[in-house]
Amino acid sequence: MAKTLYIRTHGCQMNAYDSARMADVLAPLGYRPVDAPEGADMVILNTCHIREKASEKVFSELGRLKGLKRARERAGGIMVLAVAGCVAQAEGEEILARAPYVDIVLGPQSYHRLPELVARACRGAGRVLETEFPAESKFDFLPEAAAPQGVSAFLTVQEGCDKFCTFCVVPYTRGAEFSRPAAQILAEARRMIDLGAREITLLGQNVNAYRGAAPEDGRWGLGTLIRALARLPGLLRVRYTTSHPRDVDDELIAAHAEIEMLMPMLHLPVQSGSDRILAAMNRRHTTAGYLRTIERLRRARPELAFSSDFIVGYPGETERDFEATLALVREVGFAQAFSFKYSPRPGTPAATVEEQVPEPVKAERLQRLQALLDSQQRDFNSNQVDRTLPVLFEKPGRHPGQLVGRSPYLQPVHAMAPETEIGRMVPVLIERAEPNSLAGVRHERAAA
Ligand code: SAH
Ligand code: SF4
Ligand code: F3S
Repeated sequence: MAKTLYIRTHGCQMNAYDSARMADVLAPLGYRPVDAPEGADMVILNTCHIREKASEKVFSELGRLKGLKRARERAGGIMVLAVAGCVAQAEGEEILARAPYVDIVLGPQSYHRLPELVARACRGAGRVLETEFPAESKFDFLPEAAAPQGVSAFLTVQEGCDKFCTFCVVPYTRGAEFSRPAAQILAEARRMIDLGAREITLLGQNVNAYRGAAPEDGRWGLGTLIRALARLPGLLRVRYTTSHPRDVDDELIAAHAEIEMLMPMLHLPVQSGSDRILAAMNRRHTTAGYLRTIERLRRARPELAFSSDFIVGYPGETERDFEATLALVREVGFAQAFSFKYSPRPGTPAATVEEQVPEPVKAERLQRLQALLDSQQRDFNSNQVDRTLPVLFEKPGRHPGQLVGRSPYLQPVHAMAPETEIGRMVPVLIERAEPNSLAGVRHERAAA
């Protein structure tokens, strides 16, 4: 019997991957994805706990969904309401208490148990909280990826984090580091390619800490895994995210030097440019160490561009510490970046430190940092003008006859091209740079 499923996803790309897998695991029960919650037989809220703003959203969204659920019941139907993801893991009990209309609360490691939990909810057998870290890996029980993700697909290869940066909830919400066996990843990649993927982004909270069982014996690091993926017929590009500066090893640097289809854009979060703050954050790398890693990567692949994450206003951060961050940004020159005000997270060590930075100071620093990062991004984008970049077309653009794809540096690129070019890599002469995208024309001669 056909039923409808609406999944709303917040947070990182791993949540996006998980949402796709939850849809896959529910497909055999007759659930078909729809793109609005109104009238859906099941709604899953896949949540993020990383900053206060992200997790606050959950309760306001639940309030709205409650109305839809009640309306559904008045019409004689049922709407199963589930909360998944990192808020479910961290605040499961509170969700059940504050939102008595929620049927299922389940953490990121329990998605393979969804069919059983949904059956229970449909029988009216009571509400469930599933936030233990199960002994088995969900990856061994989830069905094969069924729904195509499009030209560019995400593939989770590693989950969890053992780093325990003092500001971060991830080690608590996602649990200990776990790497999927390489053979399982290669099989999933082959299926994604069969379903039309031409670019695969390997995902992990700490993706370059990957140490998965090798197909024969021993273990593979990320560099070796990328080498194996690069040999799969049909695949044009490989990316990976997010990496930790400490886990960039020789094998990975060699992969950047030698594997053409490993894209020259690397997200390498540094958080701060002050060694004092990095130590307080328990980042276990210094500014000099970070710069050395960037230098080695650039020597291996000169066209490599970098993006990063920054936190301003970490407890105890002085104006001098903050200026050290600006200095690091100037020294590296980032193509793109995310920056955030420090947000105290319950249960993390930094949240209870006394010297919290006042809100207006955080706001002012964030603004200065973003002005600098934005100008670097604009410069990086305008430097692409008059260059010919290989663009992997992904989908139709906003204007008729136009397609959108991505440059090697992840910039969206708009160009006039027939839909038959979707899924193909085409040289595009860049004519214009916007703050967040590029526009150009197909370079016919180069294409021939
Ligand atoms: N594993 C990745 C980060 C995952 S979280 C890494 O190690 O870099 C994504 C980003 O959110 C982090 O890089 C950090 O910049 C930001 N972040 C995490 N916790 C935060 C907090 N409490 N306040 C503000 N930003 C935070
Ligand atoms: Fe969080 Fe640090 Fe782990 Fe990244 S490395 S997920 S910031 S604890
Ligand atoms: Fe958010 Fe969890 Fe990802 S806290 S950033 S959804 S790992």
